Amino acid sequence: MPPTSEPVSASLTIETVAIDGQQTYSDTVFPYVYVCRTNDGTLSQAVDWVTDHRDELLSLSTIHGAVLLRGFPTPTVDAFDAVIQALSIQNFEYRNSLSNAVRVIRTQRVFSANQAPPDVQIFFHHEMAQTPVYPKRIMFFCEVAPDHGGATPICRSDILYQRLAERCPEFIRTCETQGLKYTNVMPGEDDPQSSMGRSWQSTLQVDSRAAAESRLAELNYTWQWLEDDCLKATTPPLPAIKEVVPGRKTFFNQLIAAYCGWSDSRNDLSEAIRHGDGAPLDAGAVQQAINIADELAFDLAWQVGDVVLIDNTIAMHARRPFKGTRKVVASLADRCTQAFEPASAA
Ligand code: FE2
Repeated sequence: MPPTSEPVSASLTIETVAIDGQQTYSDTVFPYVYVCRTNDGTLSQAVDWVTDHRDELLSLSTIHGAVLLRGFPTPTVDAFDAVIQALSIQNFEYRNSLSNAVRVIRTQRVFSANQAPPDVQIFFHHEMAQTPVYPKRIMFFCEVAPDHGGATPICRSDILYQRLAERCPEFIRTCETQGLKYTNVMPGEDDPQSSMGRSWQSTLQVDSRAAAESRLAELNYTWQWLEDDCLKATTPPLPAIKEVVPGRKTFFNQLIAAYCGWSDSRNDLSEAIRHGDGAPLDAGAVQQAINIADELAFDLAWQVGDVVLIDNTIAMHARRPFKGTRKVVASLADRCTQAFEPASAA
């Protein structure tokens, strides 16, 4: 009888590895990395592995902030979609979000990451933390890696919070007691040249001004109609800090991106963000937040087929400018809501 060898389809060889630049905080690493060592694996093997490790993957992404799956047999957007489905997490469709970025829908669960032109830098943020509705999880996939640049920097927001609280305690206190509110001007038609060019019709899922106003009222926004069918909207105060679990706080907001990047032909950077009581932000403290985020940045240099699972309440992400073609797609899951009650004056 011939010796039996293990069938190739049995399972993939997958290892936890350390990669260049990986960070360590107490007993956590950032990002956590799995590499697949099987060269001729199949998508169904990858899906089986993700299904079997579902609980572990979700829990690791919360503990460490991000989990990278590299070298897996997941070469296409459809493969990415299958991996996400194997995680059995609730889909949060882009069209139902209040995101201000223009996207291209690829599958029911997958859409293009921000379509802004290659030379535009997208600053650190927690996905949709500037709106009352946000995803607990965001997943990215690299379909085409750019020739130059185009990394996705990620940053541990709990560590950022700790360091900022040490350097700027007064500012953190104001963030905690007053929260933040955001203002942006939406165009009447999608403007793909801007990182915040999504039309008000698409953002609010409406087709008339009356319906837009009723949706904004429902969300407790204030608004003003401007020339060229533009709509300026201001959110109610939203939290600036999130206590994810008791004792673990994150700088869960869109402060850096709004302060540094909410600028285009319609939007004036100086109006983008205020504390919940309308007070301007302390520019020195904001600069400290930017500096700390830059110190903490881990640049995820994409390889085709990479999948990354991020707990959006723990880690921020951004986008470096790039040259050539870059196709990174995203998927959102586990819709959450947030609201803020400013602390009353003592
Ligand atoms: Fe984003």
